[in-house]
Parts: sequence; structure tokens; C-alpha cells
Amino acid sequence: MSLPFLSKDNLVVGVDIGSHAVKICQLKRTDKGYSVLAIGSTVLPEGAVDDGTLIEPEIVSKAISDLLSNLKIKSKKVGFSISGYSVIVKKINLAMMDDDKLEEHITTEAEQYIPFDIEDVYLDFQALKGETENPDRIEVMLVAAKKEVVDDYLNMLEGLGLQPVLVDVDGFALENTYEHSYPDNMNVALVDIGASKMNINILSNGLSVVARDIVVGSRQLTEQIQATLDIEYDEAESLKLGQNPPGEHQQQIEEIFSSTCTQWVLEIKKAIDLYQANNPDSPLSKLVLSGGGSKIVGLTDFLEKETGLEVELFNPFATMQYNSKKIDTEYLNSIGPEMAIASGIAIRPSVI
Ligand SMILES: Nc1ncnc2c1ncn2[C@@H]1O[C@H](COP(=O)(O)OP(=O)(O)OP(=O)(O)O)[C@@H](O)[C@H]1O
Ligand SMILES: [Mg+2]
Repeated sequence: MSLPFLSKDNLVVGVDIGSHAVKICQLKRTDKGYSVLAIGSTVLPEGAVDDGTLIEPEIVSKAISDLLSNLKIKSKKVGFSISGYSVIVKKINLAMMDDDKLEEHITTEAEQYIPFDIEDVYLDFQALKGETENPDRIEVMLVAAKKEVVDDYLNMLEGLGLQPVLVDVDGFALENTYEHSYPDNMNVALVDIGASKMNINILSNGLSVVARDIVVGSRQLTEQIQATLDIEYDEAESLKLGQNPPGEHQQQIEEIFSSTCTQWVLEIKKAIDLYQANNPDSPLSKLVLSGGGSKIVGLTDFLEKETGLEVELFNPFATMQYNSKKIDTEYLNSIGPEMAIASGIAIRPSVI
């Protein structure tokens, strides 16, 4: 997508509110693509956000406000994204109809496609052009998001004097930033492993064909270390990250890593197998890994061995410009994988 008329003010500030950390990213459009204006992350206390839901809005709000002020971001237009049980994304196949009819059909018939009461959700949809071979049918991407969950985010952000102008979905944001970074490489598996969930999005010719959120993530490792060694959560997190030496517990910790990563890889393989069964003529070219969980030492090699695919750690900023006097190169590269979703939101124009 090329939108050369957009200036800096037309891009939203991307706010990714994860269960482990809030990530913020501000980009600017340039002649060559994008440049990074500001990026940052702040860890949230355990339990402040759970399964995509705001549990402690005041704490999250303070974290966002401190981060925005540390990053000196003045723009009020923000976008955020949702995930978890509160959002359903579904592709439906319908008889061809014009846009007005489609809107009417979706609003009156949505209940048959989603497991929520229609009064309780915000609905959105997009016709997927060129998706079906049959000219009498269209594929439509339907998104339904629980009002109470979205409203909590909106209220929290508005309470900070911000203008939330865009609500994205984690999987779409991931796809968005990937498409910008690798416009030519379109048969790929995108896998984001966060603290509490893993998002798998497989693209065939640039279109999402397998998309799922699975409730596994790097927090599992911390919780298992905590329970096995009977220690505090923060201590377990430090052991997991290698900030404290494992000492006599090295073997136990290694076993936890090995069994958990094996479980993740099985889930990834299931999605890849489903893709390959339905698309035997379009083999995947690689697996692109993001999220904090992707940084686990040895995970890329393990995944390569198990899936037979080339595995790459995703850095959404690799193709972007930045001012190295303001943003440290090492920081930019090391935080890249965790910033995949925030950068995907930050690419969106606020004019939508
Ligand atoms: N080197 C590392 N090894 C293992 N885990 C790591 C490493 N670095 C970060 N993590 C873990 O990654 C997680 C944070 O990643 P991320 O910021 O993507 O999660 P999140 O977006 O807050 O969570 P979610 O999207 O699941 O709600 C934490 O559990 C953190 O401990
Ligand atoms: Mg996340």
C-alpha cells in the first residue's frame, strides 16, 4: 500500500497493551517508507491485563501516560489492538452482493456467524477482493469485538486525554507490519509468542488463510519455574531471563523450557499441517517469529529442526530509517520482535 500524501500527523501512535508489557511506537512516513520517531516499552504488574481484558485500568493508564511522557510523544491520536476471547475473526463466504446489501446482511445475519449476543458486540467487516474463483460468491472477513472490553480500553485512553481513533486486532497488525517489511515474500507463517498467548497467522500470497490465538506463552515458563522451585514470581522471571544464575536448579529449568517449547512447537506444526493440506501447491517459504517469547535462546533452531522451515526473528524496524542520535541501534534491534504488533498499529493512517 502506498500513501505518499500522508504526513506524520496522519499516522496513529501504536499502543500495544500486552499482558506483560505496554509497547508504544510512533512512526513517520518518508519517501522511502517509514522512519521510527519513538519506541518504548514498560512492564505491567502481574494481573493488570488478563486474556486481552483490562483488569486494573488505573495501573495501565499510569504506565501508558508515563511512557508517552518519557518518549515525549505529543500526538493524541492513538490506535490500540485487541485479542483473546473478546474478539472473533471469521471469514465467511456469501452470495455476491453490493456494499449496501452486504452491510445490511451482516448486521441482520451476524448472529449466525458469531457466538455472542449481537447487542454486546461491535461489528466490522471487509469484503476480500479477488478471493474466490466463483464470480457469484464473495469472501468477507467479519470481526466482532465485545463492547464492554473495547469500551474499557476506550475509556481508559480517553481518560488520559488521548483520542483513540483506531481499534486493530493483534493478528491483523502483525500481518500489516510484516507486509511492509517483506512485500515480496507472501507464503509465510507469522508466529507471535507473547507472555500469555501465541498468535499464528499463515499468509498465502499475502492473504491470511490460517489465523488463531492459542493460550500459551512465556509466562507459562515463569509460572512453572515459580511452582517447581517454590519461589516468588519476580525471582522466577529473573531466572527465566538468565538475569540470575540457575545454580543447582539448572536441570529443572532446562526441562521446563524443553517441555513448554515442545508444546508450542506442536501447536505451530498443527497450523502448518492444516495450511499444507489445503495449499499443497504453495509451500511456505519461512516462519517469522516475534513477541518476547521468540527471544528464548535456542527456540529458532529448535523450530527450524521441527518444522523444516527457515525461521527468522522478526525485526519490523530493519527496513525503517531512524535517528541514531535519538534511538540506540542496539535497543531498536533488541526490542524489534516485541514491537511487531505496536509497529503494525503505528503504520495505520488515522484517516480510516
Ligand atoms: N530472552 C527471553 N527469554 C524468554 N522469555 C522472554 C525473553 N525476553 C522476554 N521474554 C518474555 O516475553 C514476554 C513478553 O513478551 P511480549 O511483550 O511480546 O508479551 P505481551 O505482548 O505483553 O503478552 P501477550 O501478547 O501474550 O498478552 C514475557 O513473558 C517475558 O518474560
Ligand atoms: Mg502481545
